[in-house]
Amino acid sequence: MGLSKKVASANFMREQQTIFACPVCHEQMTVTEQCVVTCENRHTFDVAKQGYVNFMTHPATSMYGKELFEARKQIIESGLYLPMHEAVMDSLKTFGQDLTVLDTGCGEGSHLAMIKNQFEETTDNKIVGAGIDIAKEGIIAAGRNYEDMIWCVGDLAKSPFQESSFDVILNILSPANYTEFRRLLKPEGVVVKIVPQSGYLRQLRKLFFADSDKESYSNDRTVERFKENFSEVSVERITQTVEIDPTLVPMLMHMTPMGWHQKADADQNNVTEITIDLDILIGKVSLKKAFK
Ligand SMILES: C[S@@+](CC[C@H](N)C(=O)[O-])C[C@H]1O[C@@H](n2cnc3c(N)ncnc32)[C@H](O)[C@@H]1O
Ligand SMILES: [Zn+2]
Repeated sequence: MGLSKKVASANFMREQQTIFACPVCHEQMTVTEQCVVTCENRHTFDVAKQGYVNFMTHPATSMYGKELFEARKQIIESGLYLPMHEAVMDSLKTFGQDLTVLDTGCGEGSHLAMIKNQFEETTDNKIVGAGIDIAKEGIIAAGRNYEDMIWCVGDLAKSPFQESSFDVILNILSPANYTEFRRLLKPEGVVVKIVPQSGYLRQLRKLFFADSDKESYSNDRTVERFKENFSEVSVERITQTVEIDPTLVPMLMHMTPMGWHQKADADQNNVTEITIDLDILIGKVSLKKAFK
């Protein structure tokens, strides 16, 4: 008989336990045989039966629920974001080595899982993947669906990781914490941030906000802030319109917390294609900024 999910993920986490730092006192942590992550000062966090750990030190409410994460999983697995996954992978491949990757605001984990799989299928290298999200429902789903990864409920502002633990930080359509990213990255590490561009899911926006086209949309400020925090920054825009399976359209509408669907009285059957329009910001943490 196989190991229980809880024991299997505790074992996996133990192999990587040097990356953990207590979110309360910042001491080194160990993962015990009893499936508890604990520090010297006996702050303890249990591995849950779904194979994740809740590192929250304060209660948090999230506007992201179970239904939303199930919808995101289906949409992401449908391949809608493959061009983005490929662009991310290209930057990971430049390392030419095994990588430790943290997805910040990972939600239900499908992006990280797909990127890890594709990376391992197309290179000789492995990824140790960790995901953190403040939304418990997302992490429960991640733990349930994806094994051999480290899934943590936690707040980026109080993350349960040691400094200089990651080669890559992913930050996909989620809030960033640049001070924390810089602390967590190894000296040669990179951060990959994905932000929506003006055409992102525009067919849905048209449906719900028919009278308010965001003509003057710009990511300039985001790019500027990113450049203030990282060096050798590149920005790549990925735009692609694809046909969408009609059965996925209701899923798309549940993918966002903004309650677009509540305002919609338009006919969702008219949506036959969907546009992905994203900026991919990549930067290095090192201060080797080219002042040449
Ligand atoms: C739009 S969702 C994107 C989720 C996922 N990256 C995806 O693309 O499917 C934004 C995510 O950021 C998470 N988040 C927001 N603030 C956070 C924080 N302080 N720490 C960790 N996660 C946070 C939310 O819970 C949510 O899952
Ligand atoms: Zn502690």
